[in-house]
Amino acid sequence: MTNWLDEVPAFDWSNARSVHRQCRSVLTRLAGDRSLLSRLVHEIEHDPKRLAESEIHPLINRLIAYQDDARGFQIRVHMSPGSRELVPHDHKYTFTAYVLAGAYVHVWRRRTDTAEGDFTSTDIQPGIVSIERPGTCYTFGSPLVHQTIMLPGTVTLFMRGPREKPRSHAALDMWPEADQFPPSYEQGKPKHANGQRPVTMDEYRSMRSQLITRGLIDELAEIGS
Ligand SMILES: [Fe+2]
Repeated sequence: MTNWLDEVPAFDWSNARSVHRQCRSVLTRLAGDRSLLSRLVHEIEHDPKRLAESEIHPLINRLIAYQDDARGFQIRVHMSPGSRELVPHDHKYTFTAYVLAGAYVHVWRRRTDTAEGDFTSTDIQPGIVSIERPGTCYTFGSPLVHQTIMLPGTVTLFMRGPREKPRSHAALDMWPEADQFPPSYEQGKPKHANGQRPVTMDEYRSMRSQLITRGLIDELAEIGS
């Protein structure tokens, strides 16, 4: 079944200012389109590709709501499995986040070292500290480093662009527990991806139920698919 996301053009992800306007427009519309968001989440059950790429991680879980490789973007639903701190990290890509529920302390940090490759907590000074609440929308470029301390039940829409660097990095000295988790199911992933694996069907259904219980999406019967 087609929907308006199929008509979204490819974005120029190298221009953070314009891509923020475009992504904010898409995510704001999707946050307000309960019928489509509900359908996208329910469709995952019957879409092996999106199910396989929906992942469990000790700090943040994700469902793949929409993906288009040709246009180079993916929209996820991120769900905090509890009160979690994502220690300072960067991303391989530029993304835009829109908060649907919950809240988090968001520390934008700046690197004081060479700004390349691995870093530790001593290489990154706090910059801006903000509180991200429902309705907040921001865009984060791949060179930046941030830290998020999430309330239980925090849910965000997350729209990412194409990969811009080989791998991400994290201040692992602030997350020694990473050693307690098995390596990511994907070979070659950094240590902060430890514990990452595809969702099971039961886990997917549990996440979907949480979204329904929280009032963020509808039951299947209510969306008529
Ligand atoms: Fe992040």
